Amino acid sequence: MASRVDALYIFLLLVTGAMALLVFACVAFFAARFRHRPGVRAEQIEGSNALEITWSAIPFLIFMAIFGWGAFVFFQERTPPADAAEVYVVAKQWMWKVEHAEGQREINELHVPVGRDVKLIMTSQDVIHSFYIPAFRIKQDVLPGRYTVEWFRATKPGVYHLFCAEYCGTQHSGMVGSIVVQQPADYEAWMNGASTGPLSASGEKIFAELGCSTCHRSDTQGRGPNLQGVFGKPVQLDDGRTVTADENYLRESILDPGSKRVKGFQPIMPTFQGLVSEEQVNDLVAYIKAISLSKPINGAKTSANRAVSGDSSDTEGQTPPLPSGSKVQ
Ligand code: CUA
Repeated sequence: MASRVDALYIFLLLVTGAMALLVFACVAFFAARFRHRPGVRAEQIEGSNALEITWSAIPFLIFMAIFGWGAFVFFQERTPPADAAEVYVVAKQWMWKVEHAEGQREINELHVPVGRDVKLIMTSQDVIHSFYIPAFRIKQDVLPGRYTVEWFRATKPGVYHLFCAEYCGTQHSGMVGSIVVQQPADYEAWMNGASTGPLSASGEKIFAELGCSTCHRSDTQGRGPNLQGVFGKPVQLDDGRTVTADENYLRESILDPGSKRVKGFQPIMPTFQGLVSEEQVNDLVAYIKAISLSKPINGAKTSANRAVSGDSSDTEGQTPPLPSGSKVQ
């Protein structure tokens, strides 16, 4: 993203620089050319359509070019590729906690391999922070109570600054860290170092421990909706709305189940606000995604469930097993 942001920024500098030079040159030229001379009266000129159209149309075209270019870069920056590696970030006063989908946890550091798209799914435990990597030209507020997302693809190995860019209290200026970009082989070695198992496996455990699996069963008999295949799909709500089951919807449904209740189900689910930590919510979200997106858990393949989506095309005709050790019946 950096080269695209820089190109637009340099273009803006050149345009504004050229305009400033033009203005100052005109001021100097006209001051000399039309200075007061004894006995000479100024001639008044009233209106010139050609001149007015020119000085309106040219700036208009330049501004539209900047707008179009800026919108293009913005949409690229706001649209993570679908196959990006996912990393969960939890901000708190005053540190960054990072959880890789594969299970590695870090504090104030984020290891990534060179050349891979990385999507950060971020939330805060307390106040508003902002995840800012100047070298990558990306910055995104990290808010309590919801997920925000940013993404990047590191192109050069090295260690890059990570800053908190939103004043968040006394130690705000100390809420810094490093993005460590490694060659794929080094990254693999680092990854194999200290894994506690994938997030989705932790999520599966929490899902069973909290008793979620007694209601969210994989057949149609459960008192809660079947969660297999639900991620990324539209969900019909009781109040007639349709929402997409994205990370924020899953999160909201865990912490405030009454807010967007699935059509056909009773408001019987208790809130888990205060019962699960931000990390555990991330684990649960990762688990629900895993049973929806055919991502491997403990090496076992899972898949979207036909019964939920009613669409067999997204399962590509496979009938894969449930995740190993799954408590869903
Ligand atoms: Cu966190 Cu400033």
